[in-house]
Amino acid sequence: MKIGIVGLGYVGLPLSLQFARSGVEVLGMDIDSTKVKTLNEGKSYIKHIETSEVEEQVSSGHFEASTDFQRVREVEAVIICVPTPLSKCREPDLSYVLSTGRAIAPHFAKGTLIILESTTYPGTTDEDLRAVLEEGSGLKAGIDFHLAFSPEREDPGNGNSHVHKIPKLVGGYTPLCRDRAAALYRNAITTVVPVSSCRVAEAAKLLENIFRSVNIAMVNELKLVYADMGIDIWEVIEAAKTKPFGFMPFYPGPGLGGHCIPIDPFYLTWKAREFDQHTRFIELAGEVNTAMPDYIVKRVSEALNKREKSINQSKILILGLAYKANVDDERESPSYRLLEKLKQNGGIVAYYDPYVPVIRHTREHSQWAGTESVKWDQATIAQFDVVIVATAHDCINYHELAEWAQCIVDTRNAMARVPMANGKVWKA
Ligand SMILES: NC(=O)c1ccc[n+]([C@@H]2O[C@H](COP(=O)([O-])OP(=O)(O)OC[C@H]3O[C@@H](n4cnc5c(N)ncnc54)[C@H](O)[C@@H]3O)[C@@H](O)[C@H]2O)c1
Repeated sequence: MKIGIVGLGYVGLPLSLQFARSGVEVLGMDIDSTKVKTLNEGKSYIKHIETSEVEEQVSSGHFEASTDFQRVREVEAVIICVPTPLSKCREPDLSYVLSTGRAIAPHFAKGTLIILESTTYPGTTDEDLRAVLEEGSGLKAGIDFHLAFSPEREDPGNGNSHVHKIPKLVGGYTPLCRDRAAALYRNAITTVVPVSSCRVAEAAKLLENIFRSVNIAMVNELKLVYADMGIDIWEVIEAAKTKPFGFMPFYPGPGLGGHCIPIDPFYLTWKAREFDQHTRFIELAGEVNTAMPDYIVKRVSEALNKREKSINQSKILILGLAYKANVDDERESPSYRLLEKLKQNGGIVAYYDPYVPVIRHTREHSQWAGTESVKWDQATIAQFDVVIVATAHDCINYHELAEWAQCIVDTRNAMARVPMANGKVWKA
């Protein structure tokens, strides 16, 4: 069996390797020729994917990458894992999904199975994607080719989370489309869960992400309330977590980051308007979460004020640029908001992140492109008036931080493990 996977990013690459390990021949397709070249050389470009994993599948002939979309004629199924961001006006940007549909439509053979994995609003697969596939191929979904949606579930940075062990939802345009997609995934994934339609699978993925966004907002709000009451939210969560039923811990932080949680809920907000519905929980969670960097800036200001300093002209280090601990993914990271806001207030800002040695050029953060992480040594860290722990990578030596830094604003409770740091640390 040979399949194509379009979009060799954080989702498409591990999925490709999982299929390849399971004995399926995988043709990975991407518009980024640098990634394609790197992968064909048997190298990984993502921190948590070992080069040896790519090398093994390339040399066994199970995995090959290409920029040539005409080659979809070689495969019996295509899985699409391309980005689904928001536009400047925070509306769904389906352009990557639709351009992929247009690129493959003239080339795939009759009988091909096409599956979308990108997170999106209900209706994308059977309305938007189906339309471009049918138009470009002259074929009919459900009759001449099969069409399905199966959301990706990833837990980057969690070493115990393995693609093949994460249950996979599958919804089809027709029952036959669903059964064929489910059979395909059973080659590589232990548990496949069929649902009645593409829309249910699309909606389930959004529910999962909205659940996280709303609960994170709730603890972020409680953090502020309890802080004013002199109660530590982290201790409260540890206490509540001992309840063996009806509770699940979520943790506060400097704001949401990553490709999913800050973005996906608003796909539903947009689509809901078509039905005269308002997604108030989503909006409120968005409001609370996006206000978090302002709260952190306020705490930085208080911490500096205590030392008779101000943000203006102070040297401020953001520790952790990645949006989440132990990953190298800094998309949508709240650390960028902190850098921007502190700089606007006259702060002299820098960052340290061993996983992001230099900031790549992106549309969103072009002003930071080329900025390099500072070094980790006493002389460097000690020169900052304040260090903000924005992302608590496990590889950071918090004892050294406690010893070297003048003052620490901790948004992740990372310093709780260093009792000697008391007095220097401001929880935020
Ligand atoms: N990263 C996660 O943890 C995660 C988890 C669950 C779901 N998702 C969803 O999966 C989808 C992909 O996310 P990701 O994190 O893998 O993104 P990514 O940016 O890491 O990867 C996307 C890849 O698609 C390529 N690409 C873009 N346009 C293309 C096109 N027209 N044709 C071919 N390739 C194209 C890019 O070059 C890139 O390599 C998104 O919808 C996202 O919401 C991501």
